[in-house]
Amino acid sequence: MCGIIGYIGDRDVSEVVIEGLTRLEYRGYDSAGVAILNDNGIDIRKRPGKLNILKADLKKNPIKGHIGLGHTRWATHGIPNEQNAHPHTDCKKNIVLVHNGIIENYQMLKDGLTKRGHAFRSQTDTEVIAHLIEENYKGNLEEAVRISVKELKGAYAIAVLHKDEPDKIVAARCESPLIVGIGQSEYFVASDIPAILKYTNKVIFINNYEIVSIDKKGVRVIDYSNQPIKKKAVCVDWDITQAEKGGYDHFMLKEIHEQPDLISNILNTRVRGNRIHFDELRIKDTILKKIDKIFIVACGTAYHAGLNGKYMIEWLAQVPTLVDTSSEFRYRNPIVGKNTLVVVISQSGETADTLAALRESKKKGAKVLGVVNVLGSSISREADGVIYTHAGPEIAVASTKAYTAQLAILYLFSLYLAGLREKRTPYKIAGYLKELKKAPGHIKKMLEQYGDAKKSDLKHKARIFNREYHKRLKDYYQRDSEGRKRAPNCCFLFLGRNVNYPSALEGALKLKEISYISAEGYPAGEMKHGPIALIDENPWTICIVPESSLHEKMISNIMEIKSRGGIVVAIATEGDEEIRKVGVDYIIDIPRIEQTLTPFLVAIPLQLLAYFVAREFGEDIDQPRNLAKSVTVE
Ligand code: G6P
Repeated sequence: MCGIIGYIGDRDVSEVVIEGLTRLEYRGYDSAGVAILNDNGIDIRKRPGKLNILKADLKKNPIKGHIGLGHTRWATHGIPNEQNAHPHTDCKKNIVLVHNGIIENYQMLKDGLTKRGHAFRSQTDTEVIAHLIEENYKGNLEEAVRISVKELKGAYAIAVLHKDEPDKIVAARCESPLIVGIGQSEYFVASDIPAILKYTNKVIFINNYEIVSIDKKGVRVIDYSNQPIKKKAVCVDWDITQAEKGGYDHFMLKEIHEQPDLISNILNTRVRGNRIHFDELRIKDTILKKIDKIFIVACGTAYHAGLNGKYMIEWLAQVPTLVDTSSEFRYRNPIVGKNTLVVVISQSGETADTLAALRESKKKGAKVLGVVNVLGSSISREADGVIYTHAGPEIAVASTKAYTAQLAILYLFSLYLAGLREKRTPYKIAGYLKELKKAPGHIKKMLEQYGDAKKSDLKHKARIFNREYHKRLKDYYQRDSEGRKRAPNCCFLFLGRNVNYPSALEGALKLKEISYISAEGYPAGEMKHGPIALIDENPWTICIVPESSLHEKMISNIMEIKSRGGIVVAIATEGDEEIRKVGVDYIIDIPRIEQTLTPFLVAIPLQLLAYFVAREFGEDIDQPRNLAKSVTVE
């Protein structure tokens, strides 16, 4: 979950590496470091904390050179201090290395290396790799890396430099992402595409157990048995403006605002006439017709999109569908066979647990379909079939646009299956598509109404919450000093039913991820089985209550909360008179749309509410503490 970059070319390496790390910082931000090779040898600069600290330092005391490495860290082994920051070196500081992943057998390797006289400077697992390469170095860095990586167990993408081979970077991959960027007489290695987009969009994807050497003349790839591998470069259609804030205060806000165009694009490219096309879906229709069960497997926000997918698939295509978090699925021997379709959903396409779930499913004979955002990612390559969400780079750690893009793809896939399996007539499908095409316009309207950071009404609500929250905390301490032990019950409850139960989970996740306020999502019908005990005048309950066949049930839930003195924020369809009569505290209107499509609209105020609350609390919205965007370790 760290980010690595390496560069060789005519530009000022420091600039290129810092630019790359800025794009990779979403992967971790506990510390950052660079190593630059120049006439003075290897110059290393590393600083704990966010990249800005290192950036400022390099501005004050620049390091010049044309070949170097960079790293942004999400700490696993060893606290986030300078010693543990990458790059790491061997004993003599001839070799320097950056690493993303975890070396599982590092302790055993370290014990051996220590016995053989190697002195360690950090508590990291990474440092063992530098010492191993030192032991195996006989004048050829590529060969030393090749021998050394064979001893490693775990996950890694590494990039290595040797003082005596001053125009070469060697990189290797096992389970952690690694790409090579090809420019005009300049080459890059990096964890992810945005890191190099400013300079090139020509990319080679490196596979597991491959070693790549770049120098000014080109790229050479070999496997672990030293066999050369021919690789084809591809041009990615992302551009650098997509990875910039474009005038917004935060990437999260920018990405929220990208959603209407994004969903329009998905519909324009996937729907031609009234037919749905998944050109890159490598699984044959004859197979999709035969499946008798679907498993949807994902983590975090993608899991919530998957939960929504279950409602869609079962309702439209009538295939029994189960949903699981990847970390549970992979270890519980799920009943998966050759007539099961496993749909793995992942923005990054690199999440370790989801990748493992994919492999487990394939082993059991199931067909695996990846719903993935990042082109060429591990999941997109290993799955039997893939549907890209084409949401462009998502930089904010809290996922927003990738979520609604996943919802759109799952809805279209449900309709596709429904047509294929003759569960819905073409006429009906055309009707659903017509309704779905209304979503982008409605979202746009909501963003005009709620998305402006200067005048949004949601910002006002967030301010009230902030004030109330701090009042309660103060109140708590007073009561505590009087001997009345009572927890400050300042949390948020999110309640929804049916397709908006996943919306409730996602609303709660967004809020807790970026504001650190405790938030729970529940199916509203479950309220009586626990969460109702929390209700007093303190928690705010966000009730997702759009027009639907379950509207009345939601109204009853709201009455139950109100009669216990709870504060209710209702997300309701505009013109809903009933909701006004039950005396909720705040109403957030959404436009009218067919009930199964309400999650697309509900997502917007939920994302914005989380955003404005975190903003009121002064949190670092794009880089929340302890989290990383791409979780490539277990
Ligand atoms: C991390 C991120 C989440 C994301 C989840 C799954 O926890 O912080 O935003 O939803 O990983 O990531 P994926 O790339 O597989 O969708």
